[in-house]
Amino acid sequence: MLRQAIEDGCCLVCLVYVSTARAGVSHAILNAILEDARLWNAEHGITGILIYCDGSFLQYLEGPREQVKQCYERITASTSHADIVELINEPTGTRKFSHWHMGFTTASRSQLRALLEVRWRNDTGDQHKTGADGIGLLRHLMDGGGVAG
Ligand SMILES: Cc1cc2nc3c(=O)[nH]c(=O)nc-3n(C[C@H](O)[C@H](O)[C@H](O)COP(=O)(O)O)c2cc1C
Repeated sequence: MLRQAIEDGCCLVCLVYVSTARAGVSHAILNAILEDARLWNAEHGITGILIYCDGSFLQYLEGPREQVKQCYERITASTSHADIVELINEPTGTRKFSHWHMGFTTASRSQLRALLEVRWRNDTGDQHKTGADGIGLLRHLMDGGGVAG
């Protein structure tokens, strides 16, 4: 039933948030978080991307509404970060990162700034970057446009 919901696009939602990493979150801790996250996400139909930049996280999650809610509860319960700010939590027609149970890359400050300038809820397009532009930026980072690290 979960799989059917995923394939139908029924009740699919996307959620984007930013947060501040706890001081002392090392590569090893980050790898452990990602390993744990990918296992849980794969079992619960969650896909998305995690970006790290100089002490900040930005994460794009997508999946069935109830599973995204549970995933976000796990994320907000984590002591590895704080100051979590939700930027969007809305229905979406299709998955944008269906190949990633949680892709990860790093970004430069200017790339993170560009992601924070995105009006994630705005699909209509004006002089501001829209949610679609945000997806484009995330894809660019995942395609190797992020900074090494
Ligand atoms: C930046 C960040 C992203 C996370 N992403 C996910 C995720 O996509 N899916 C998930 O199930 N848990 C996610 N988690 C939760 C971790 O997998 C793990 O359960 C949690 O970090 C453990 O708690 P602790 O950090 O207090 O040790 C995330 C945690 C952090 C800090």
